Amino acid sequence: MIFRQMFDATSGTYSYLLACRRGGEALIIDPVLEKVGRYIELLNELDLRLLKAIDTHLHADHITGLGALRDRTQCITVMGEQSKADVVSTRVNDGDKIDVDGLSLGVIHTPGHTDDSYSFTMVDRVFTGDTLLIRSTGRTDFQNGDPRAQYESIFNRLLKLPDQTLVYPAHDYKGETVSTIGEEKAFNPRLRVQSVEQYVELMNNLKLPNPKMMDVAVPANTKIGLSQGEVARRGWAVTTAEFTHAIDRSDVAIVDIRETSEQEEEGTVPGALHVPYAVLAESLRPRGALHQNGVAKKLIFVCTFGERSAMAVQLAQAVGLDGARHLHGGLAEWRSKNQSARKS
Ligand SMILES: [Fe+2]
Repeated sequence: MIFRQMFDATSGTYSYLLACRRGGEALIIDPVLEKVGRYIELLNELDLRLLKAIDTHLHADHITGLGALRDRTQCITVMGEQSKADVVSTRVNDGDKIDVDGLSLGVIHTPGHTDDSYSFTMVDRVFTGDTLLIRSTGRTDFQNGDPRAQYESIFNRLLKLPDQTLVYPAHDYKGETVSTIGEEKAFNPRLRVQSVEQYVELMNNLKLPNPKMMDVAVPANTKIGLSQGEVARRGWAVTTAEFTHAIDRSDVAIVDIRETSEQEEEGTVPGALHVPYAVLAESLRPRGALHQNGVAKKLIFVCTFGERSAMAVQLAQAVGLDGARHLHGGLAEWRSKNQSARKS
């Protein structure tokens, strides 16, 4: 396995690059904007293809690298369902899995630091974001923070993991790099409380100054969307109404680029081809299966929110499939418009 812990000294942030092998697919957790150039260099050096960029929560102390990584590598951006970020490709919830070739992260919703805080488990380790830090815990006094929820997340979720589980947080300000669940149970001063009330009392009296970057980072991290508007201006998008009419047309091939797990959860699109985004570029190449389809028919790409499909239509156009389009706003918008149409 390839595992790299990378540090941004300005914000004290740890980012994690994971892949199962050289030449394979990679994912990155909590990337920092200023370090994106270095991540890309490292991906090239290790011959990795970045497939997913994940934030454990909407950060207040640094600007996320999610948008820049997506724009430069066409990777999928991932955050929790509760995230206020305007556009992410995939939104996960408790119990989901985040997969790349040979690796699988378990998803645990661990609210408290923020309401969109998530932790990710992988075999012998857990990435705890700002929920559980080394000998500390994430502050709970802004961004819908809630000490009571954090107590539940830590005591009833994270501390239930085996004691030898390695703890990799999103931050450390003292140079610590890794801990274990057992060590934190024994030595974390914030966890030496007898009750949830005591924890709430402790967290409500920390009197911390706001992070220096907060006024810049929170608005920037809320607006990371790829401009679907730009794709639409080029005439490469179809509206939800146009999509409804296109479904039954014989000269159109709908291409669902979501992952199988998303289809199982959200439902399939009748008659659609299924080509997950991870293998799409390959399939669109001149000898690829989808390229043949795209020559014979108009392709319309669909995904959940329209972000991956906006990238897909750009890939298709780049290989000369001029008729390719995507569903603006994704299946989420199409379903909600259909439902309101049925009600009225
Ligand atoms: Fe945070």
